[in-house]
Amino acid sequence: MCRAAANRLSEDDERRRIYVLGMGNLGRLFAVSLAKLPNRPPITLVVHRPGLLEQWRSNPGVVLHPPSYLEGQKDTDDDSSRITDFDIEMWSEAPPPSGQESTEISNISNLVISTKAQDALKTADWLRRYLGPESTVAFAQNGMNKLWPPYGAIYNDARHPSTSAERASPQWLACIVTHGVFSIGPFASVHASLADVVLGVVGDDDLAAPGQDSYLVQQIMAASQLNARWAPRHELWVLQLEKLVVNCIINPLTAILRCKNGALFVPGGESAVPEIIDELLEEASSVLRTLVLHEIENGTIFGQDGNSGTDKDALVERLSFKSLRAMVYRVGELVKDNNSSMFQDASAGKKTEVGEMNGWVVEMARYLESVGATDGGKPISVKTNEKMVDLVEKAVPLSKDELNSHFL
Ligand SMILES: NC(=O)c1ccc[n+]([C@@H]2O[C@H](COP(=O)([O-])OP(=O)(O)OC[C@H]3O[C@@H](n4cnc5c(N)ncnc54)[C@H](OP(=O)(O)O)[C@@H]3O)[C@@H](O)[C@H]2O)c1
Repeated sequence: MCRAAANRLSEDDERRRIYVLGMGNLGRLFAVSLAKLPNRPPITLVVHRPGLLEQWRSNPGVVLHPPSYLEGQKDTDDDSSRITDFDIEMWSEAPPPSGQESTEISNISNLVISTKAQDALKTADWLRRYLGPESTVAFAQNGMNKLWPPYGAIYNDARHPSTSAERASPQWLACIVTHGVFSIGPFASVHASLADVVLGVVGDDDLAAPGQDSYLVQQIMAASQLNARWAPRHELWVLQLEKLVVNCIINPLTAILRCKNGALFVPGGESAVPEIIDELLEEASSVLRTLVLHEIENGTIFGQDGNSGTDKDALVERLSFKSLRAMVYRVGELVKDNNSSMFQDASAGKKTEVGEMNGWVVEMARYLESVGATDGGKPISVKTNEKMVDLVEKAVPLSKDELNSHFL
């Protein structure tokens, strides 16, 4: 695989170098936050379109405006928010246009993958010959990471097989990001809502996982703008399930109705939206509770971190319809003035992440059915989530009345 660079790479220690792959909103947030560290690591931004390399050559720098930008609407080229001290490379299977220097990628020690969810594991897989047990890879997507059980172990066995008791796969991390960042152009975003990052280890086998000791984890936790904290694997898994539920409600409905988040939670009227929210929540709760009980009985997540005595009832209660509903309405109030990312992607005619959100709920229900797991003896229904996937993928905006007619 080739890499083309816009500037000469220094001879910085490759062990410390952090590659940030996917220079969209979260890529910019991670790159800028890491660049502000006092003893900062060398950072390489990885893009996949030649146009971005050209753009960087003519106007280098990543701009991440603070939330105050929204009030002042300052000039987007204001240099006070521009950070230029990055290396940049384009990674591609294809050789670069003639006249451009390119080299083979070398082993990667630290990688942040900040693509959309549907591209994340595909990208790690594409890079697998440069990743090994010495590598740490942090995924920063919404949705459930694909390396969680039950598929993580299958992936690692197939792609990073180990011939000894030692782990041969990279240290896989997931970051749950609650910051809000939106784009105002190439390499330029607004950090509109300051929140936090929770990170920890994913994957099915946890063999000798260095966890918090890894260099990348230390750097992410030290970057004050990210406001990151570490979570043990079982807690990270549950947090990611809860965040998924919020995304499964707010994202598809705002994408279909092309509305701000808050419009979903307006009480009264003839709208079927509150009922659709409840149906989505019932289905998600049924899948999640069944999954958690199945995992407690058969899986590895709750047997680790010294938490084998997990309070099953408390966990089932945390994922009950009532608790998830309260959480979704609480978050809905906090983000009522925002446009969800799925709404933005749908409006821009881009592929959305609905397959990774509601699509994941549907696939997980099928998986649970395939292993004979039921919700207290009842089959799991996910027809409203299936409908959401279908409507979002059709990409036709609907009014609330038109949406109602799909559910009558
Ligand atoms: N933005 C937020 O506030 C926020 C908050 C929490 C979580 N998230 C989640 O974080 C993830 C990223 O969101 P985002 O807003 O940063 O999306 P985004 O702005 O679309 O950024 C993704 C970037 O990855 C690039 N990319 C895709 N494949 C690549 C490859 N093989 N090599 C290099 N670059 C590649 C894309 O380039 P092209 O578009 O040119 O293909 C795009 O620039 C999503 O899962 C989102 O749900 C976002």
